[in-house]
Amino acid sequence: MTTATTGIPVRPASVGTAHTRIEGRDKVTGAAQYAAEVPFTDLAHGWLVLSTIARGRIRALDTDAVLAMPGVLAVLDHRNAPRVETDYVGFLGKPDPTCAVFQHDRVPHLGWPVALVVAETSEQAREAAESLVVHYEQEPHDVEFRGDHPDAYPVDAIMPAVTGKGDLEAALAASAVVVDAEYTTPEEHHNPMEPHAATAHWDGGRLELIDSNQGATWVLGDLAKLFSLDPASVRVRSEHVGGGFGSKGVRAHQVAAVMAATVLQRPVRVVLTRRQMFSLIGYRSPTTQRVRLGADADGRLRALEHRSLSATSTVHEFVEPSAGVARVMYDAGAHHTANRVVRLDVPTPTFMRAPGEAPGSFALEAAVDELAEKCGIDPIELRLRNEPDKGPVSGLPFSGRNLAACFREGARRFGWADRDPRPAVRRDGRWLLGTGTAAASFPSGAAPSTATATAHPDGTFTVRISAADIGTGARTALTLVAADALQVPPERVHVRIGDSDFGPAMLAGGSMGTRSWSWAVQAAGGELLERLALGTDIPPEGITVRSDTAAAVGALTPAERHSFGAQFAEVAVDVTTGEVRVRRMLGIFAAGRIVNPLTARGQFLGGMIWGISMALHEEAVRDRASGGPVGADLAGYHVATHADVPRIEADWIEDTDPDDPVGIKGIGEIGIVGAAAAIANAVWHATGVRHRNLPIRPDRVL
Ligand code: MOS
Repeated sequence: MTTATTGIPVRPASVGTAHTRIEGRDKVTGAAQYAAEVPFTDLAHGWLVLSTIARGRIRALDTDAVLAMPGVLAVLDHRNAPRVETDYVGFLGKPDPTCAVFQHDRVPHLGWPVALVVAETSEQAREAAESLVVHYEQEPHDVEFRGDHPDAYPVDAIMPAVTGKGDLEAALAASAVVVDAEYTTPEEHHNPMEPHAATAHWDGGRLELIDSNQGATWVLGDLAKLFSLDPASVRVRSEHVGGGFGSKGVRAHQVAAVMAATVLQRPVRVVLTRRQMFSLIGYRSPTTQRVRLGADADGRLRALEHRSLSATSTVHEFVEPSAGVARVMYDAGAHHTANRVVRLDVPTPTFMRAPGEAPGSFALEAAVDELAEKCGIDPIELRLRNEPDKGPVSGLPFSGRNLAACFREGARRFGWADRDPRPAVRRDGRWLLGTGTAAASFPSGAAPSTATATAHPDGTFTVRISAADIGTGARTALTLVAADALQVPPERVHVRIGDSDFGPAMLAGGSMGTRSWSWAVQAAGGELLERLALGTDIPPEGITVRSDTAAAVGALTPAERHSFGAQFAEVAVDVTTGEVRVRRMLGIFAAGRIVNPLTARGQFLGGMIWGISMALHEEAVRDRASGGPVGADLAGYHVATHADVPRIEADWIEDTDPDDPVGIKGIGEIGIVGAAAAIANAVWHATGVRHRNLPIRPDRVL
């Protein structure tokens, strides 16, 4: 043991050592209870009825027949449901009115919630819900996303819509080499394994929600505003969450469950079906992106333009900010970016893993590969020549930018030096072979959180924080962080999460969860350790200290803070069937200090596999006639499965963030960024054909 300056003996760090998931055994044996499994006496079940038209009005609902069905307790619709408040600013801004169910008779998209049928059993509720006849006044709808839509407009959301410096046309005209290409990505859906589920009940004047979400603080805040409740009279619990990916915020089913529990004064559970998830939980908008690059013969950029168009609903503005990635990755004398949207009669899209960066990096990193080809320069070398020394748009310094180191390490391990740059010259039997690379980045932020740490007389500790473990291993990571803060082995620390009563905390999102929570855990643990060093006796109830990181987070100096990475892919393309197979992938990341190598590797690999899926499989097709998604299930919506996933490796370089108390940056989303571009670039290298429209389906290859 070494000794810190405080005189407290310092244990070897737990952070950085592989640790299996603390709740792993409970999960695989079924002992871990997910939101729809927590038992309640007197539980009633709600089933949502969704609109079958894409635009219009509800004329009538034949509720009498349904109310006479076995076990049916109530039907809530726009005529009788409790009123809610939607004019507020919540944890993530103004709410999507989609979650304020049953407030009016308008139908703005197919799959809009029009009623909740509540019954004694889930089966009775479902049968009655499916029997409910709803009469509509139908109006013409438009669900067709087109890159040249005349009604597109720029929106400042998440970030400014438009940035610009320099004379783009002049810089392009002065460039020796120009790339001007349009890229498209389709509508994509995040469908976590665990469907969205919520149980609401009133417990002695307090509303409790057992829920599957990415942040209890987030859900509590919005529910309190919607129902005009004192936040202290609401409790949200979500101990285990089976995936989120951006979709598990405040949604229609939680609000419907609260309404029904309020009306019936009984616990009411609402669970979404897989099909309902395709219209109720958000999704990634399709994008059309135009990228124009102009460079000197040596590959140095003079001009960069990245314009993105995405779709939103008629009721809420959500922007997929795909042009944002260009504001971080490359500089040019003339540098212009824009994010625009068009309103269609579709459900509101939402955050989906690496919102903006995932589709944006496909377009930008594919365009950079095209530029490298035109310049006759290796694509890694071209990127290294264009490494900016400060934020291209912000002018701020980078808190750290180890992208070049990622490329060097990745190139070494992938065997890039031996690569013949010529396309379409390698064969393995009927397969054409190629390799490709792309850069990745994702913002690394921290948000205020609170935590408590309690020392018990038996030498163990309990740390409480309203964190969400959406399958990432956050509970385990926080246990390692707490163990180091408290200078004890992880076995002596019990971390409790997923309960809003533990105080406000950041949600699991924006790659900011573990980082933000670790600040609070470290602060509470450190302060508790100092208290204990005074030699105080620990009473039976323990000694508890509380941390709040608002001031510390607020004191961060402005900088460009991001994780970075280099993606590599090798593909084989069968030009007689159009089949593309990824043979191997490698991702090397500079993503701050890695808390738990075991679960971190899983995070990176999960993102990269999603990149395979994005490049080759995923595509939600919207039927223009009905306005709804075709094949809204996991049979019709193709995702990469085990057989699609080859030898795939993720690793990282040393990249401790000097401004973070634990050295963390965040790893939640960067694994998917650049992955689809690396595959598309490899397909070009294999075949000599550029594929600018995802997914690279067999019929597009042929
Ligand atoms: Mo994420 S898309 O911030 O859950």
